[in-house]
Amino acid sequence: LDIYLDNAATSRRKPETVYAAVDAFMRNVGASPARSVHGYGIEASRIVESAREEVSGLLGVSDSSRLVLTSGCTESLNIAILGMLKHGDHVIVSGLEHNSVMRPLTALAHRRSVGTTRLPVTSAGTTDPTCVETSILPTTAMIISTHASNVTGAIQPIAEIGGIARTHDIPFLLDAAQTVGHVPVDLGSLPVDMCAFSGHKGLMGPQGTGALYIRKGIYPAPLMYGGTGSASTEETQPPVLPDMYESGTPNTPGIAGLLAAAKFLRKTTIAAIHAHLESIGVAFIAGLKEIGEVTLYGPGTMLLNSGVFSFTVANRDPGELAEKLERKHGIMTRVGLHCAPSAHKSIGTFPAGTVRASIGYYTTKNDVEVFLRALKEVVRA
Ligand SMILES: Cc1ncc(COP(=O)(O)O)c(C=O)c1O
Repeated sequence: LDIYLDNAATSRRKPETVYAAVDAFMRNVGASPARSVHGYGIEASRIVESAREEVSGLLGVSDSSRLVLTSGCTESLNIAILGMLKHGDHVIVSGLEHNSVMRPLTALAHRRSVGTTRLPVTSAGTTDPTCVETSILPTTAMIISTHASNVTGAIQPIAEIGGIARTHDIPFLLDAAQTVGHVPVDLGSLPVDMCAFSGHKGLMGPQGTGALYIRKGIYPAPLMYGGTGSASTEETQPPVLPDMYESGTPNTPGIAGLLAAAKFLRKTTIAAIHAHLESIGVAFIAGLKEIGEVTLYGPGTMLLNSGVFSFTVANRDPGELAEKLERKHGIMTRVGLHCAPSAHKSIGTFPAGTVRASIGYYTTKNDVEVFLRALKEVVRA
């Protein structure tokens, strides 16, 4: 028996069509997209542009050229942060950010004297939007928030935060790594200027895929410069999207898989996936609350949770609990700080961290029952 509860890191099982698409691309196409005009090259380009269209469609992006395909959410966040912030700028971030936000900001603090205000987190595990308003300085050049915490699953009031950003004409960068594919996200109506996400988590595509949505009128400097297959007479980077941010031969096998995943999600619908996660999550939360020794962090309700459950047990080492869950019961969780020390500082679990169990589309009710029984046994042993 093997129960995978680490979907917040990456979704392990993928739709069958995703495996088939990666294999078919490598065997039957295998050429470089956007460069070569022979048959295989044209097919590779068609796959990349279809993936861009399909993923845009899932997120309410009407102009798919605004969706830059990347190697993952980390690259997307780096383009947005390193590409936008200038010497002496000020940034407001939630107290729940992943290191893929905090580390670029720390690097910029040294390199460009960028200052950061880190907002407090309420007892419900969210950002209070009024704190955003009161933290704005004349030099504030960006507001950044995760859509849902990768430590607690807590969904943030992003419409309110984005609304404040828009009122003050400050770009709002959303890290939607934990919500895209799990929670409906409509970039056509949300006040979001840039949105970074992975292709390999809730979207169920292969690892090494991701995207950055950039609203019209916003032009971060590229992270990388090079061949794009377009404007080849010029030795300067083409100033058009998405080419400007897509230098070099892309991960086309991964993008072929991402296309299959996006088609699967369109057919299944994110609303249906969300409903499935909600029904599983309700049982998860109720079960965890029943075990008296367990402290559950973040929102104790699925109305505000993307499918991530972090907990500790008094006087027990999280690593020891996770190890027993796996060795004795075949249950895979993640333990420690989840690449988000800032979030753990905010919720009071730094530096020991928590045990994190995260669900996905393929998690079943039975998985939850087995997990809860196993946890009871481990806790009471
Ligand atoms: C909230 C959050 N942001 C960013 C990332 C980085 O994503 P990726 O591993 O796809 O670069 C992750 C995943 O680890 C995450 O959970």
